[in-house]
Amino acid sequence: MGRRFKLAFLSGKSWSHSFIKEFYSMSAGIDKIAFFTSPYFIDMTDLANARGEDPNKYLIGIGQQKQAVIPPTQDVVTLAANAASSILTPADKASIDMVILGTESGIDNSKAAAIYVQSLLGISKRARSFEVKQACYGGTAGIQMGMDHLRSHPTSKVLVIASDIARYGLNTPGEVTQGGGAVAMLLTADPRILVIEDKTAFHSDNIMDFWRPLYRREALVDGHYSNNVYVDFFNQTWRDYQNRYQLAIDDFNALIFHLPYPKMGLKALRSIVHESHHPTQLMAAFDAAKTYNSQVGNLYTGSLYLSLLSLLANDTMLKPHDRIGLFSYGSGAQGEFYSARIGDGVKPDDLRQQLNSQLNNRRQLTIAEYEALYETSLPLDGGDRTFDTRTDHSPYILKGRIDNRRQYEYQNGETGSKKEQPAK
Ligand code: COA
Repeated sequence: MGRRFKLAFLSGKSWSHSFIKEFYSMSAGIDKIAFFTSPYFIDMTDLANARGEDPNKYLIGIGQQKQAVIPPTQDVVTLAANAASSILTPADKASIDMVILGTESGIDNSKAAAIYVQSLLGISKRARSFEVKQACYGGTAGIQMGMDHLRSHPTSKVLVIASDIARYGLNTPGEVTQGGGAVAMLLTADPRILVIEDKTAFHSDNIMDFWRPLYRREALVDGHYSNNVYVDFFNQTWRDYQNRYQLAIDDFNALIFHLPYPKMGLKALRSIVHESHHPTQLMAAFDAAKTYNSQVGNLYTGSLYLSLLSLLANDTMLKPHDRIGLFSYGSGAQGEFYSARIGDGVKPDDLRQQLNSQLNNRRQLTIAEYEALYETSLPLDGGDRTFDTRTDHSPYILKGRIDNRRQYEYQNGETGSKKEQPAK
């Protein structure tokens, strides 16, 4: 929070025009950010060989090197809890007053995954907790709602988590664009990682490019059409943003994108990069920003924010206060282009070390092992089930389901001991 704003706030100063203007221009955004994914992955060359495709189609044509395989012992609740638990202190947990979980692969048609996460992590019960859905746009919707909340409650802390498991089906064209994981972000005033500007443009339209009816575990997708709509929505929101704020491409040090797979963002960037006087810098930033996405695959809601982490950890040119543009897209469809400035507290070496260590410690599966895990899940028509949890050492795991209630467990990694979480 800016000092002048703080003084005005504490002194009860009247809401003059200039005060209101400053109120809405206070600095807020992402103060902490963390990523979590499964301990398992497959190599895209193995998948291409198993599917009778040229590996270069996956490695170059799609831009994917590896793909996270999510075991049945992880769902969007545990992925989210595992991501958020690594950044929250007891003081954060006590002062968070809003928990927003964006997902399109939720576990319940009624109860929000955010409520489970709040309970598993011991976040204050005085928080508002809910789930947001609009395909891959839910995380961004959560961030913008969190920002609105912070503008009117500047001492608040808002936890936004984008958590998803991307499934298209074995032996489908979309299989190479699967993946999963969660990105947790703590939004506060005076943030250290990313100052989110109050500059945004959005566009929505009723489009059938990707959807998942309630009776399906796998998405339905018109893949080539979705590529075209995505680039079109990017161009519409980008032009609208430029007109509203009179900013040009050269006002940005990097542009990052929702990345269901790296090539998709590249197509959007290529459609405007010729407008720049420093196209090489924007292309280099894009290369940095796809680093972890190409190792994990599609996170749906979290993809843009894993790309943000990739950029912060791997771009060697970015400095505090540089402006970046973020394009968020959720099929169906909603697009938003907004801007932000790099915070003073980004530590690229630490971020790189954490992310590389998490990804390098994963176990590679054979395609047969992946297919077996893919087919193991809680039955869609109900019934009890207990999973073998011995090989998943993630802090939070899903043990199974008893009497229609999911059984979550916290495993203390240091001692190997396990603590039951009471069924809610
Ligand atoms: N070497 C290098 N590149 C190759 C290649 C090879 N041997 N073989 C093919 N390619 C390229 C193609 O030229 C194409 O590139 P382009 O997109 O720049 O034209 C790319 O690889 C993909 O090939 P394509 O034939 O289009 O693949 P496909 O028909 O199997 O489908 C998707 C690819 C991405 C459409 C499909 O995986 C899909 O639908 N994924 C889901 C997309 C999605 O989730 N959309 C909604 C979320 S926003």
